[in-house]
Amino acid sequence: MKIMVTGGCGFIGSNFVRYWHTRHPEDHLLVYDKMTYAARKENLHDLWENEQISFLQGDIAEMSAVRRACLEHQTELIVNFAAETHVDQSIAGPLVFTDTNVRGTHVLLEVARELGIRFHHISTDEVYGHIEDQHQSTEEDPLLPRSPYAASKAAADQLVQAYHITYGLPVTITRGSNNVGPFQYPEKAVPLFSTNVLLGEPLPVYGDGLQMRDYTHVIDHCSGIEAVLLRGQPGEVYNVGTGEEMTNLEMVDIVLQELNGNPSLIRHVQDRPGHDRRYSMNISKMRNLGWTPAFHPRQAVAEAARWYAENRWWWEPIRSGAFREYYERQYRDRLAGHTA
Ligand code: NAD
Ligand code: TYD
Repeated sequence: MKIMVTGGCGFIGSNFVRYWHTRHPEDHLLVYDKMTYAARKENLHDLWENEQISFLQGDIAEMSAVRRACLEHQTELIVNFAAETHVDQSIAGPLVFTDTNVRGTHVLLEVARELGIRFHHISTDEVYGHIEDQHQSTEEDPLLPRSPYAASKAAADQLVQAYHITYGLPVTITRGSNNVGPFQYPEKAVPLFSTNVLLGEPLPVYGDGLQMRDYTHVIDHCSGIEAVLLRGQPGEVYNVGTGEEMTNLEMVDIVLQELNGNPSLIRHVQDRPGHDRRYSMNISKMRNLGWTPAFHPRQAVAEAARWYAENRWWWEPIRSGAFREYYERQYRDRLAGHTA
């Protein structure tokens, strides 16, 4: 099969390319990526020489470029990871989230419809919004996004489903929870806290740190996507997570223990506006497909933290480059006025 993997130089996309190539070496994978700040070609350093994997720099929101890429590659399946993905960046500069996550997804759907290509969309538990008490989101729950990032992902999900209902396009959607693992850009919490511990820098915990997330190993997300691609039903949505949450303070504690960090590095800083307190998903539908996560969230966070300790070659150039400006903007005032 010929598969176009959009956003394949990002965190989850690159893990998926390696995962899929290892298990399905007969398939040809075209990595189509705009190469934003979050992309790294070195995420796939060991695979670029392989003739089953090729790369094309391009924007999913550019219709003619997407159509040309699909025609030349004879794409049979698009797996869409391409997105702007960080909530804090969406609060500071939201419009690009609409350009890529909404319009970009729409362009991919149009090309898929025109050329008769199967479409798999990577979504997120954040589309369900903040989840109260003991509830776990099911795939039928209403979408109640609360950040510009989550709203753009929810809009994309609805376009994907509309293309199935209206045009009969064969689509599937997976909604993943917070992923952790190798090659995650250090703007996200687990790699940020891990690299800060390794650098001896403070750990900026937003608010009381009692927000809850389901930290899933990225390899479990990849195997979940594989299960849906092989056994999922067209038009269906699938929640991919572990079904277990922990607080951010528990996550920080695991990172500190794994890296022998000092808890005195923790700073409670000004909270994120509109911060969702809890995400939690029911994963029965995926279990019914015969899929189950291999990693407990504690193990996933610990393994991720260890990866950053063992792979300074990957993150040190990022932390010393343009990332520093973002870090200053996002954290200087927060850390100067921290609340504990
Ligand atoms: P990432 O930020 O690490 O990578 C995103 C990739 O998309 C980058 O390589 C970037 O260059 C590319 N990209 C951005 N805009 C593009 C455009 N206009 N055209 C082509 N390529 C473009 O993101 P990630 O964490 O790997 O997330 C991948 C997908 O998974 C996203 O759709 C995200 O919403 C979803 N998701 C992420 C998580 C998570 O915890 N990281 C959880 C659930 C779902
Ligand atoms: P993040 O990795 O940004 O994922 P998301 O907000 O999409 O779930 O953040 C995970 C959790 O960690 C979230 O509750 C926000 C919190 N957080 C902090 O407390 N401090 C930080 O510096 C960051 C980036 C996140």
